[in-house]
Amino acid sequence: RPPLNKHAANMEVKTSLLDNMIGVGDMVLLEPLTEDSFIENLRNRFDHNEIYTYIGSVVISMNPYRSLPIFTPEKVEEYRNRNFYELSPHIYALADEAYRSLRDQDKDQCILITGESGAGKTEASKLVMSYVAAVCGKGQEVNKVKEQLLQSNPVLEAFGNAKTVRNDNSSRFGKYMDIEFDFKGDPVGGVISNYLLEKSRVVKQPRGERNFHIFYQLLSGASDDTLRKLKLDRDFSKYNYLSLDSANVNGLDDAANFRTVRNAMQIVGFMEDEVQSVLELVAAVLKLGNIEFKPESRSNGYDESRVKDKNDLKEMCELLGIEQSVLERAFSYRTVEAKLEKVSTTLNVSQAYYARDALAKNLYSRLFSWLVTRINESIKAQSKTRHKVMGVLDIYGFEIFEDNSFEQFIINYCNEKLQQIFIELTLREEQEEYIREDIEWTNIEYFNNAVICDLIENNQNGILAMLDEECLRPGTVTDITFLDKLNTVCAEHQHFESRLSKNSKFLTDHSLPHSCFRIQHYAGKVLYRVEGFMDKNNDLLYRDLSQAMYKANHKLIKQLFPEGNPAKVNLKRPPTAGFQFKHSVGTLMRNLQTKNPNYIRCVKPNDKKAPRIFTDSLVRHQVAYLGLMENVRVRRAGYAYRQAYEPCLERYKMLCKQTWPHWKGPTREGVEVLMADLQVSTEEFAYGNSKIFIRNPRTLFSLEEKRRGCLENLAALIQKIYRGWKCRTHFLLLKRSQVVVAAWYRRYAQQKKYTQIKSATIMVQSYSRGWKARKILRELKHQKRCEEAATTIAAYWHGTQVRREYRKFFRANAGRKIYSFIMQRLMQKYFLGLKRDLPSMSPIGGSWPTRPYRFLDTAHTELRSIFHHWRCKKYRSRFTDERKAVFEEKLQASEIFKDKKALYPSSVGQPFRGDYLEISKNPKYQKLSSAMDEKVLLADMVNKINRANGKGTARIFLLTKNNFVLADQKTGQVKASVPLPDLASISVSTQNDGFFALKLKEGSAGATKGDFLLSSEHLIEIITKLRRTGATAVNHNHLDIDISDEFLVQFKQDKVCVKFVQGAPKNGNGASCKRKNNRLLEVSVPSTA
Ligand SMILES: Nc1ncnc2c1ncn2[C@@H]1O[C@H](COP(=O)(O)OP(=O)(O)OP(=O)(O)O)[C@@H](O)[C@H]1O
Ligand SMILES: [Mg+2]
Repeated sequence: RPPLNKHAANMEVKTSLLDNMIGVGDMVLLEPLTEDSFIENLRNRFDHNEIYTYIGSVVISMNPYRSLPIFTPEKVEEYRNRNFYELSPHIYALADEAYRSLRDQDKDQCILITGESGAGKTEASKLVMSYVAAVCGKGQEVNKVKEQLLQSNPVLEAFGNAKTVRNDNSSRFGKYMDIEFDFKGDPVGGVISNYLLEKSRVVKQPRGERNFHIFYQLLSGASDDTLRKLKLDRDFSKYNYLSLDSANVNGLDDAANFRTVRNAMQIVGFMEDEVQSVLELVAAVLKLGNIEFKPESRSNGYDESRVKDKNDLKEMCELLGIEQSVLERAFSYRTVEAKLEKVSTTLNVSQAYYARDALAKNLYSRLFSWLVTRINESIKAQSKTRHKVMGVLDIYGFEIFEDNSFEQFIINYCNEKLQQIFIELTLREEQEEYIREDIEWTNIEYFNNAVICDLIENNQNGILAMLDEECLRPGTVTDITFLDKLNTVCAEHQHFESRLSKNSKFLTDHSLPHSCFRIQHYAGKVLYRVEGFMDKNNDLLYRDLSQAMYKANHKLIKQLFPEGNPAKVNLKRPPTAGFQFKHSVGTLMRNLQTKNPNYIRCVKPNDKKAPRIFTDSLVRHQVAYLGLMENVRVRRAGYAYRQAYEPCLERYKMLCKQTWPHWKGPTREGVEVLMADLQVSTEEFAYGNSKIFIRNPRTLFSLEEKRRGCLENLAALIQKIYRGWKCRTHFLLLKRSQVVVAAWYRRYAQQKKYTQIKSATIMVQSYSRGWKARKILRELKHQKRCEEAATTIAAYWHGTQVRREYRKFFRANAGRKIYSFIMQRLMQKYFLGLKRDLPSMSPIGGSWPTRPYRFLDTAHTELRSIFHHWRCKKYRSRFTDERKAVFEEKLQASEIFKDKKALYPSSVGQPFRGDYLEISKNPKYQKLSSAMDEKVLLADMVNKINRANGKGTARIFLLTKNNFVLADQKTGQVKASVPLPDLASISVSTQNDGFFALKLKEGSAGATKGDFLLSSEHLIEIITKLRRTGATAVNHNHLDIDISDEFLVQFKQDKVCVKFVQGAPKNGNGASCKRKNNRLLEVSVPSTA
């Protein structure tokens, strides 16, 4: 079943116990109803963690032995204010029902929790209390009360619970707690009643069990300091009263629990010194257990007991403020007071031990009772007005041990009484309901355990009465005499079994020992060993001991033993334990009968205290003795199921057209219509006043079946409508969106179209306007031109008119005369200016005045050239003949070499000196000079190139009018003299060198020696002069000058080619000649670049 969340719980979703049930949630619906199906249903639910199941209004609770997530605050909220059958079974539903009935209907409630030891009664009672605390009112005062009520539990559990073989936290006392509420339902206080603490446990524990928790908690959890004050040792093994074999219990943290208990005591309202006193008493009990006795022989032949080691006794006396000697004496002597006499007898060792243990048990049980009283004082309601009461009964469960004694007898008696009241109240309630609802009552067969109760409690011949009688009877009375008595008195009783009873059928029953009797309880047969019955019933404490206790200088101890007060010596015997118990159980039962009962029936799923294990036989046994089957039968007698009209109609109204979806009339009529429509047979149900009673679960289930089917259809219908709605809304949304989109689109399209039209219109407009404007412009222009033309024509016309008019006033040709006059004046002015401003007479002067008038252009240029020619003539006219010849030579050189030989430009600036050697003046050349009969035109030093190696030899070169001569440079001796007419041609290169070849005419006289290849620095001058002279000499007016870079030279025999090449520029030297081979001389000319 998925947990409903808080939100869902708050919503008014009406669910039902019947929804999502595992098995059946209410046993009355079980079909068929057999013990097997009953157990199977419990198991099925237990396996699915459904630990609660109903039988009508009774809750069956299975102990899960593990924490389940079903006790959370959310769960509390879920069950709060809900009807009992509304949700799946839960203890909270029962608590809620009880609480609301108490609050709203003012009915006092009691919650009866039964079940065997370890079935979960104490836990259930705590759950109920915590639920009520959670749902009832809040406020500072209320919270304090709640807290105190809840915190009383840990205190009482520490002192009253112990580990047994069945339960690690077994309640060893019965507890009934009345929680009191004011008229609003807020808790105002409470009263706790306790029933018969199993005090024998203080001095002795069965195997595998422990003493009460508080002993272990104190030793484990108290601080060292506290332990020192209490004169205790942490070691359990130091104490005789603490069993060791199971001192430590799994999952039980004694130390932590001790702190919890101390804290709880503080909350409940214990003062610090009270807590201290309580702990001192606990310590005293432990010390008491350690006191041991030894026999001491007396003169009268009896052994008298003596305390063996007085240390523990001393410490205990110190703790409790008792005079040591008084207590010591009380362990050795016993004073019996009868009427006026006081007789003192000695105690032997076993009597001393008996006395010690009796003291320990009494100390502890009285302490426990005191604690209850003290708690009651704290939690009691302040106001005296009548309160609403909710009683929670958590009593020890039905117990069957291997060895059952007086305690078990008492406990089981109590359970027997509870079963009795359960039967009575259930039946009564059932009957009352039938009467209330006006339904015919049919008698139901069930087992009534009244007969067993009678066997135990009958005042005349009940077992308890027999026991008391035996205890009071003078003479020797023992447990065996008691059994004998039972054997005679109860022999006939069908639930009593004993070997020696008169009932012969047990004579041979070996399962029945002689010292035992057996009772067939409602929950099973229990064998009781009579040993100790008398003692325990008598519950005797020697007066010496109680008086010793009374004398103690300890506030609490003194209170606990009021009978020790010598002033109040009461010779009457105190009531026996059995009597007291019977009495208090009787009171309790009467109390319970006045209240509205609510039952929680706890079932233990296994003996191993383990989760998830379901032991069939064990559960079957409990189901049997708890009378659960009977319970179901009673409940189903006549009618198995009942339901108030309103929820019934609410649940099934969809099954009938008239009632669905709303029924307007009274609900009962609605249900009647519904049942009639469904054609349920009339024997199957009956109409009560407020409820419909259904005889058979089958009918209910068929209704449920129909409902489920109908729900499916309804769900389909809802789905259909919802889907339709969803689609429609979606469609409408789409449609709306579509309209919006379309509107926007249309708007956009129109906008676009409009802008297009607009721009087109503007365009057309602009064209048409332009066209119009241009047309106008054209017209305007045309008009303007026309106007201008008209004006021009008019002007001309006027001019003509005017001229024609005025012509007669002027002389003819006056204009031409004026013109020529002006021109003359201008020319005059021009020429005079020119004369005044004549430029320099130097032929190279470039300046010339600018012309003043454009019409003088040609004249001006012409004048300039005339002027130039004139000044050149003037210049020339100043030359001498010699100077003229020099210029002629230069001119000739220019004609020959300009633009042909690279050497030429450098020679332009050098004047042609002719005689460089001044031979006539040089005595060295006297001879040569004299040999020259003609005037020397040129004398210079040349190099004659040797054809063999290309090297030059210096020679004097002389030119006369008819010859040229080569002479030795040193001696002046003529080497060669060649008449100019023999010279055929001269060859030179185009380059910047001074080489030249003088070629002779073939067949001439000079030609025998061959051509000359010479070089000179004055090449240009030499050749110019040669040509001039040669031309004038003979009528030889043409001397060839060959300018090329390759020419042939005819030496004596052979012709050699002279070739000029561009060489690398060399420092200093000019061109150099080298003989390459026989036929080639190469002249390397440094490049001028
Ligand atoms: N509702 C529960 N959820 C979880 N554990 C539980 C529940 N009820 C009982 N128990 C376990 O079972 C143990 C025994 O339960 P509880 O003490 O209530 O038994 P009891 O019926 O009071 O026994 P006794 O008669 O011996 O006092 C608990 O200590 C606890 O461990
Ligand atoms: Mg308990």
